[in-house]
Amino acid sequence: MNESTMTQIARRMLSAKAEQFTESVIREMTRLALKHNAVNLSQGFPDFAAPAEIKEAARQAISDDINQYAITWGAKPLRDAIVEKFERTQGVRVDPEREITICCGSTEAMMAAMMAIINPGDEIVVFEPFYENYGPDVILSGATPRFVKMRPPTDENSFWSYDENELAAAFGPHTKAIILNTPNNPTGKVFTRAELEFIRDLCVRWNAFCITDEIYEHILYDGAQHISMARIDGMRERTIVINGMSKTYSVTGWRVGWAIAPPEATSAIRKVHDFLTVGAAAPLQQAGAIALHSPQSYYDKLAASYAEKRARLLKILENAGFTVFKPRGAYYIMTDISRFPDPDPVRFAAGTKDVAFAKYLVEEIGVASVPGSSFYNESALHVLQKRIDLGGWRSTARQASRVILRQRLRTVAEERRHLQLHWHPHPGCFRKSGKQRT
Ligand SMILES: Cc1ncc(COP(=O)(O)O)c(C=O)c1O
Repeated sequence: MNESTMTQIARRMLSAKAEQFTESVIREMTRLALKHNAVNLSQGFPDFAAPAEIKEAARQAISDDINQYAITWGAKPLRDAIVEKFERTQGVRVDPEREITICCGSTEAMMAAMMAIINPGDEIVVFEPFYENYGPDVILSGATPRFVKMRPPTDENSFWSYDENELAAAFGPHTKAIILNTPNNPTGKVFTRAELEFIRDLCVRWNAFCITDEIYEHILYDGAQHISMARIDGMRERTIVINGMSKTYSVTGWRVGWAIAPPEATSAIRKVHDFLTVGAAAPLQQAGAIALHSPQSYYDKLAASYAEKRARLLKILENAGFTVFKPRGAYYIMTDISRFPDPDPVRFAAGTKDVAFAKYLVEEIGVASVPGSSFYNESALHVLQKRIDLGGWRSTARQASRVILRQRLRTVAEERRHLQLHWHPHPGCFRKSGKQRT
């Protein structure tokens, strides 16, 4: 059988949904980082130890023989701990029996929530750039996405922002939900109360849900405050909060997350979750109950340690010639690479400059990052942004600093020759001297 016959058969036999998205770029960059022995600043996982008490709680749970299926929608001690923590931090009391579903990571919670509410013809509003999972989530659940662009900061004192008219125009009679992610991956934006209230008004007007991914709720900088959409007047009954242990307790491999939703939505989410995965790992749910009772000092220390990494890496990147967009939350840094010349088009062949640049960085310089286009629907826009992850940074800081500086020395010389190649596809991007090319 020749290759084209095989391709034809595969086309007919495989899901048209799965055809619509590619494998995760972030995980691909991690693979390349391993291959090229590079510093991995691409995938969002910490490279430091998880807290000792939480690991001990997991060991204890296994010794205590909490080794069989937990209740499908989640072990009671963990659901109770979520209720206690959500009330303490956000002032919102939820019912552990009717409003919480524990899932295999917030990834499954998001998928289960979307499958629980989407019908054919439903639309979902998504801010761009977005965490890459939301694209496939929308496709797999059968929704139609309506993208709304966020614009990068124009100076040191501004933040990523959206145009209110564009957002309002994305809502309509078919809108089922908006996906919000605050603190935001990849931009580091933390939505303000005024912004949440504007979104609330649209959700109420069009009778839509807000699915809010709050997984970075404790990673905040410069006094930024996390406000859950569930706390905004009028939103309690139309908000689905997605959260999990991965980032807050530095245990991304445990796969424990949850959805907090009004009772009717919860009963649909629980059914989907049951048939998708049955349940999250029982002993790790038990340990999760201990983790969620951590004192406030634990969360303060976590935020402070990321703030220190952010300051150091921002400095390194700026010194290396990157234009950086300072994050206010989460642990990623978006940069504008338009000041750099195009990498060798033969050695680093790619459809867009950001992908070519990411290849160049990982192969030549030894630093893995994520091309900005993977956070956009239309990568053909030549997105000139890259995302750099702070999670896996500590133990590799020196090495990263060395290689990035090495790169700076190389590119400064090349830059002189390529001054005319500076280009800025996004209105509002920093504009440096040089001719624009689109
Ligand atoms: C915004 C966002 N949501 C969800 C996840 C995944 O979380 P989990 O490990 O709980 O599935 C990530 C991981 O990078 C993320 O950045």
